[in-house]
Amino acid sequence: MIGDKKVLFSGMQATGNLTLGNYLGALKNWVALSDEYECYYSVVDMHSITVRQDPATLRRRARTLLTLYIAAGLDPEKNCIYYQSHVSCHAELMWILNCFTYMGELNRMTQFKDKAAKHADNINAGLFTYPVLMAADILLYQADVVPVGIDQMQHLEITRDIAQRFNNLYGEVFTIPEAYIGKAGAKIMSLQDPSKKMSKSDENPNASIYLLDDPDTIIRKFKRAVTDSENQILYREEQPGIRNLLDIYCACTGKTPKEAEREFDGKGYGEFKLAVGEAVVGVLKPLQERMAALEKDKAYIDQVIKDNAQRAAYTANKTLRKVQKKVGFPERVR
Ligand code: TYM
Repeated sequence: MIGDKKVLFSGMQATGNLTLGNYLGALKNWVALSDEYECYYSVVDMHSITVRQDPATLRRRARTLLTLYIAAGLDPEKNCIYYQSHVSCHAELMWILNCFTYMGELNRMTQFKDKAAKHADNINAGLFTYPVLMAADILLYQADVVPVGIDQMQHLEITRDIAQRFNNLYGEVFTIPEAYIGKAGAKIMSLQDPSKKMSKSDENPNASIYLLDDPDTIIRKFKRAVTDSENQILYREEQPGIRNLLDIYCACTGKTPKEAEREFDGKGYGEFKLAVGEAVVGVLKPLQERMAALEKDKAYIDQVIKDNAQRAAYTANKTLRKVQKKVGFPERVR
């Protein structure tokens, strides 16, 4: 709790171009919740280097991502939007939390297993302790709520376990955070293989809608989306392709799956896919227009980066000092 508002923390990696999954699963909810909470939204560039990055590309993507947060509707005057690497408390708290996290717990993380399989030539310690850095992110700001997609649930659970373990030893130091999963769009699947989540790192560009794709590209990708031969638009497990498209449609329009089923009753897949594409274009167009304007205003974005890093560091430092004291580090001499 900061003042009379509860605290919200979330972050995204600046790895690859943001997809519709990131938007519907996370960013859209961030905007919806931003008035209600004291919010911290981080571009988690430190997490990004757990897999090899080209430095210039990472820098450019981090800036694009930070600008996208603002273009999506987060006001940097009210929300603290900052680069994780600009607040050194994240790394410092992570070290301490590493000493309160078990190898066995980290071994169970499915994201670690997936990424280790994908990057077999670079299974580094950072990849293994990635969830501990995520715990440090969240706990530094004493977050009450963390809006994420379903794929991050396991990381939220380990964060809660680490916080609880620390509190049991040292008293009420950390707020125990809750995940916030949106009603629609919490797991958007690939347009080419509806058994896989839509991912920034997918090699097939037709599998993902990128937030900065132009309208023609978006419509074309939806036209090519994998469906089935059932010829009925029903929200059910047996039709994962159709269900995913309905999820996207509902997340973009605010309709329920039942309402959408009724709307498309008796219609063909071609017409349905076009309607989904148009709904997505309708949601992304205003964001893209704001993005184009913001990208021209270098001085404004620079100011946001500077001011918000200071604000974040102020809050983060308070928690870090408390934790350092609890574990027995010597007091600073002023
Ligand atoms: P990242 O960058 O992979 O994803 C950012 C957010 O997008 C959500 N998401 C999806 N939601 C629905 N459908 C999809 N296909 C989809 N793909 C991604 C993710 O759940 C996430 O909410 N480890 C985190 C970043 C992070 C973080 C944090 C998040 C670092 N520290 C602290 C919350 C709090 C990650 O890699 O997200």
